[in-house]
Amino acid sequence: MEFQWYPGHMSKAKRAMQEDLKLINVIIELVDARVPLSSKNPDIDPMANGKSRIILLNKCDLADSSVTARWKKYYEEKGFFVALVNSKNGKGVKQVNEVIQSACKEKIERDRRRGILNRPIRAMIVGIPNVGKSTFINSFAGKSCTKTGNKPGVTKGKQWIRLNKNVELLDTPGILWPKFEDQTVGLRLAFIGSIKDELSNQYELCMLLMQYLGEHYPKAIPDTYQIEPAENEVELLERVAKRRGCLKAGGEHDLDKAANYVIDDFRNGRLGCISLEQPEK
Ligand code: G4P
Repeated sequence: MEFQWYPGHMSKAKRAMQEDLKLINVIIELVDARVPLSSKNPDIDPMANGKSRIILLNKCDLADSSVTARWKKYYEEKGFFVALVNSKNGKGVKQVNEVIQSACKEKIERDRRRGILNRPIRAMIVGIPNVGKSTFINSFAGKSCTKTGNKPGVTKGKQWIRLNKNVELLDTPGILWPKFEDQTVGLRLAFIGSIKDELSNQYELCMLLMQYLGEHYPKAIPDTYQIEPAENEVELLERVAKRRGCLKAGGEHDLDKAANYVIDDFRNGRLGCISLEQPEK
């Protein structure tokens, strides 16, 4: 399966982000905990020169916790501050405040030495589409936060969310583009639904997902659908179709429909907590 991506409008977005980055002290980058490498765009790294960096492994409720723990260590070893969050139910979101304080410790101390007290840390959320940026901002900012408008000396039109007396967040996230010269990365992003489904053949995508699950989580499909394991993916999908009552007009199994169920069930965590990639040893 071949994926293509046309990032034509992205050069404009990239320039806008470079401008925003000048205003902030810390970059909070969201990645999908199921694919912490494939959902990270390394192009942000050269732009992030000198900023404190935080990686949030979001949607950690959908990923395999033992693999996620290894990803946390992986990114910490690369110098990032890392936290696990579930933006949907808010788990881990409050702790991000502490992580920001730790990531900006040097700046806070520098300010203090210069006699600058209580200058808030400015933060910005970035990430590829669908990784959960808006959900995180809503959960993190909560209802009690105040929005501050244009400030003297700050680019016109920027809105900041005052999270507490120490932290301000730029209210619009920076959108990074998925990056995949590598087709495996494209495939993983298609599995989690970050690449538009029109670009991919659902049946083929499901076959590849089932192949991965067969190798790494062999019980996921049989246990979820209460079916017997099968010799190969086609046979297994036929069993899913039978169990889910996916039939065509003539009574034949509707494998396309069953494939859609499997993909949807995977994306919503109904197949269990599954990670699609592991940190290199
Ligand atoms: P974006 O701004 O980065 O593009 O992403 P957005 O917040 O729109 O989130 C994309 C989808 O991911 C949403 O689902 C959202 O609910 C879901 N999501 C975000 N964070 C988490 C998380 O930590 N765990 C889980 N399980 N899901 C998360 P949706 O289906 O598009 O919308 P909805 O039906 O949930 O409203």
